[in-house]
Amino acid sequence: MESHNTIKELLDEAVCALGESGIERARLEAEILLGFVLDYNRVELHCRYDENVHPFYAESFWRLIKRRRLHEPIEYLVEKVSFYGEEFYISHGALIPRPETEILIDKALEIITQKGCKNIVEIGVGSGAISIMLSFLKKDSTLCLHASDISPEALFNAYVNKIKFNAKNLELHHSSYLDFNTKLRLKFDVLIANPPYIKNGEKLPKSLGFEPKKALYAGEVGDEMLLHIIDLAFLHKIPYALCEMGYNQRESIKAHLEKIPHKSLEFYKDLAGLDRGFVISF
Ligand SMILES: C[S@@+](CC[C@H](N)C(=O)[O-])C[C@H]1O[C@@H](n2cnc3c(N)ncnc32)[C@H](O)[C@@H]1O
Repeated sequence: MESHNTIKELLDEAVCALGESGIERARLEAEILLGFVLDYNRVELHCRYDENVHPFYAESFWRLIKRRRLHEPIEYLVEKVSFYGEEFYISHGALIPRPETEILIDKALEIITQKGCKNIVEIGVGSGAISIMLSFLKKDSTLCLHASDISPEALFNAYVNKIKFNAKNLELHHSSYLDFNTKLRLKFDVLIANPPYIKNGEKLPKSLGFEPKKALYAGEVGDEMLLHIIDLAFLHKIPYALCEMGYNQRESIKAHLEKIPHKSLEFYKDLAGLDRGFVISF
């Protein structure tokens, strides 16, 4: 006869295993992972503490616990991430969208609303979090969005989310920067990007090791992609450019802008009070 563990027994064991590996919210995460495997929400799990778990599900659960003990982000394990109050699909190959990127969306919304912008382009769409959220929040407008990425895996994520959020006004392009527009020759009002901005070889926390390198590293200095995106906005006569950046990149962005005619440059901070991005008007 197969031996069964109860939900409570599995959870207690998993909490110890996760705790030993330095996972801080061990109980919450064990519950999320077991709930994911059994397709129960956390309340259902609590109400069924004494229920036996079939070994097939118990094994699936332990496989996830093993991966989590190696500090693989829980979002990749359950293929879900909460962003701007919504649930996005996420899998390896796309960066897990971060809460600070919600500020970039708010900045874009401000400009789109105040200036009546319609044509938006994003470079480095990743999971689609930015463009899809803009499409979702401005459902009733006639916004038209285009977004590029060099990574087919990231574009797969963006495509799944585009379908999930019914973002019919978003066109995805497998392209570097704005190369896709060489033929299309579209005019854009706003360029938005959260590009890679980390210096090649910089040592990162363990969990970031599971995220795609091409979503993180930008070059020898780290600001290469940001500066190129600013140049593109200027050359393509896009009136507004908004980017997320690293906390220590303010000076290099400012110095670069001194060489380019523009109307204004405004930096914004994240919730920790660190410089996190900029808005340029040309
Ligand atoms: C930091 S991630 C941002 C993803 C998403 N926009 C977000 O905010 O969560 C940067 C993205 O830029 C993409 N990328 C890197 N180089 C690129 C290039 N030359 N052209 C377009 N996309 C690029 C990466 O594949 C990655 O998906």
